[in-house]
Amino acid sequence: MLEVQPGSTADRIARLGDHLRSSLVGRDGLVERLLIGILAGGHILIEGAPGLAKTRAVKLLAEALDGDFARIQCTPDLLPSDLTGTDVFHPEKGTFAFSKGPVFHNLVLVDEINRAPPKVQSALLEAMAEQQVTSGGETHALPDLFAVVATQNSIEHEGTFPLPEAQLDRFLLHVVLDLPDAQTERRILDLVEEEQQHGTPGAAQITLSEIAQAKAETRTVHLSAALRDYIVRLVMATRQPPFNDEIDHPVSPRGSLALAAAAKARAYINGRDHAVPDDVNAVAADALAHRMVVAWRATSEGRTSRAIIDDILEATEPL
Ligand SMILES: Nc1ncnc2c1ncn2[C@@H]1O[C@H](COP(=O)(O)OP(=O)(O)OP(=O)(O)O)[C@@H](O)[C@H]1O
Ligand SMILES: [Mg+2]
Repeated sequence: MLEVQPGSTADRIARLGDHLRSSLVGRDGLVERLLIGILAGGHILIEGAPGLAKTRAVKLLAEALDGDFARIQCTPDLLPSDLTGTDVFHPEKGTFAFSKGPVFHNLVLVDEINRAPPKVQSALLEAMAEQQVTSGGETHALPDLFAVVATQNSIEHEGTFPLPEAQLDRFLLHVVLDLPDAQTERRILDLVEEEQQHGTPGAAQITLSEIAQAKAETRTVHLSAALRDYIVRLVMATRQPPFNDEIDHPVSPRGSLALAAAAKARAYINGRDHAVPDDVNAVAADALAHRMVVAWRATSEGRTSRAIIDDILEATEPL
């Protein structure tokens, strides 16, 4: 077993999870996925109606990380260089020098990504995929810890640019938030009241070297041959009968890799040195559903990629 001893790296990550959960009512799933993103070195897309604490969640995470944080509010007039940076002329030297844009941060919140024009989206997604920015023929590496959390509003369609499927694929996980129930809604009210009276609790900060250590430990989590087979069978199910009938574009190998990485990170967060079928099942929809395109006929019958993944999980024996 992993040693989740007080003060160990795994314990520090567990404490971070506790802190985030205590400030985000009923959002355990979101907290887990944000941590998975950090540990697996992946980027997260959060989708939901306005006011579901998407921004709050990322700000809380930023406060707890001893790294730097940037927030980009997307608008239709944004330029790619507003994100990546640009070559600036220095008259005193008579030369150009690269001035880094907001993507050069450890944690980057890209709010309302679907309001950014396609050129900006592709510049961002390219930086995400390559972990570097090229400008004026020179390549500039992004920091070792570089995590993008993008948000997308699910009710706003006018004046937005939906992310193309090929680019959605760049996100490790796509998290969809639903509305809280009455009890949760009340607890949110209580929490915010409490914060207004007594302030917000501070978090113990996690350093970048602790994060690097946690990422290294996550990579060593054991993913058994049987679980690898299970992941392959889930992904193959999107390409074969009976499910391929409903799917125009099935999941690519990037999906299998994402599911494996996310399952390992989930195991680590839960204090295990090996992944179990539950780790795969818990993240399968968030890791796979955004990587496939449902056929129009199935869509017109109300089928969604998430529902199809759920059915595939139902129909596939883990071991
Ligand atoms: N589950 C929750 N726990 C704690 N606070 C919450 C929760 N849900 C909503 N809130 C509160 O609701 C308010 C809105 O949150 P926030 O601004 O983060 O929403 P958002 O999802 O980013 O919205 P938008 O899509 O409009 O940007 C905040 O004051 C936040 O504290
Ligand atoms: Mg917001």
